[in-house]
Amino acid sequence: MNARRTPRGDPARRVAYEAVAAVHRDDAYANIVLPRLLREQGLTARDAAFATELCYGTLRLRGQLDAVLADAAGRPVERIDPPARDALRLGAYQALHTRVPAHAAVATTVDLVRSVAPAAAGFANAVMRRVTERDRQGWLERLSPPSADVVARLAFEHAHPPWIVRAFAESLGEDPRAPGPETARALAADNERPTVHLCARPGRIDPADLADAVGGSPGAFSPYAVYLPEGAPGDVAAVTRGLAHVQDEGSQLVALALASAPVAPSRAVGERWLDLCAGPGGKAALLGALAAASGALVTAVEVAPHRAKLVEQAVAGLPVDVVCTDGRTVSEHESLPAGGFDRVLVDAPCTGLGALRRRPEARWRRGPDDLPPLTRLQRELLGAALRAARPGGVVLYATCSPHLVETTVTVAEALRRSESTLERLDARAALPPGMPGLGPGPAAQLWPHRHGTDAMYLALLRRIS
Ligand SMILES: C[S@@+](CC[C@H](N)C(=O)[O-])C[C@H]1O[C@@H](n2cnc3c(N)ncnc32)[C@H](O)[C@@H]1O
Repeated sequence: MNARRTPRGDPARRVAYEAVAAVHRDDAYANIVLPRLLREQGLTARDAAFATELCYGTLRLRGQLDAVLADAAGRPVERIDPPARDALRLGAYQALHTRVPAHAAVATTVDLVRSVAPAAAGFANAVMRRVTERDRQGWLERLSPPSADVVARLAFEHAHPPWIVRAFAESLGEDPRAPGPETARALAADNERPTVHLCARPGRIDPADLADAVGGSPGAFSPYAVYLPEGAPGDVAAVTRGLAHVQDEGSQLVALALASAPVAPSRAVGERWLDLCAGPGGKAALLGALAAASGALVTAVEVAPHRAKLVEQAVAGLPVDVVCTDGRTVSEHESLPAGGFDRVLVDAPCTGLGALRRRPEARWRRGPDDLPPLTRLQRELLGAALRAARPGGVVLYATCSPHLVETTVTVAEALRRSESTLERLDARAALPPGMPGLGPGPAAQLWPHRHGTDAMYLALLRRIS
């Protein structure tokens, strides 16, 4: 029989195990499955925090933990039964990356394995005992690739696949074959627990009042950002009442840059804005709130019906029209304004390499093979956006990835193919004055280790004709 066994043990470890197993077994997303399990199991705040730390930490560091487990088990992790393997990953994470004492990490892991893969309990005991013979530093010294292979070494030490190490190095202007210290800082930032950012919707709640209400602090760059100290954002009354929403500060800056970019000629009121890739609706919500204040109207396009529904929920009560269609065909849509849009946002589907700190399993799921179909789609969407803008209107191309193929190369290719005459604007000038470390321009690149935001990329174009 292949029925799944219910894990025993303390509730925090049990929930963390269930979430990690669902991610690997069912391709689930941790940031969806874990909150659901926490709710269902009714964990105390303390247990919920521990389960989250175990689940997210284990998923993030999987590559490194697997190397340790393979060495301790004397066999590749692919040859360990999946339930026992996930329990051992959690055990190795506790032993090497938390303050859980070694004996407790061993005992609780064996207990967990006994309930999910009973035949492997003895094996798990032996493996965990070997894992706890060394501390984290000891394992790094034992298993780190030679220092001459800088990419492999950084990949192991910071638990990222090598292709992502090279991509970060290239985007940061370091040698992708021998990345330097800034690449190491960018990788390290992906392994830190990210702060939850809220966006105080303009016109609905004052950011200072929101910060007071949640015991948070104002954002460093976005005038609407509030950093949430602890706890689940769903518990924040302002979020449940639609006065604020959860949104990385970098994403807020993208929406703000679109709203403030110089169109020519400018219109005081009555502008038409287009969000071409709107789901699940974070930027559409901020754009909608800004549009309400300036008398503009937003059209939010999303191809996936369930995500279009999420956009509808996110923009309730705001001057936003949601259209479920393929953004590449938007010019054929009957609801388009004559002459075209004043401002168009292409928040393109991408690898998401700039938000790895918030999506713990993503780095191991994505691969370089994802790039060709994504970049084709990105070019086509940007082409459609340029056609949908009016002469003098602006198009902001954004990704939450710093990979040059999705950023610089996609923009250059779309420009080369465009039938319109275009000018590049300095995207850095559309961001808050004095914001440091945005790169050489005219595009702007944000980074977690520089700005505390996701690694959003922004390129700003204006149609001349
Ligand atoms: C990076 S996400 C956008 C995030 C969103 N702007 C926000 O702030 O919440 C990209 C979105 O583009 C959508 N998408 C993918 N292909 C599309 C297409 N051809 N036309 C319109 N939307 C598309 C995806 O379903 C996804 O929801």
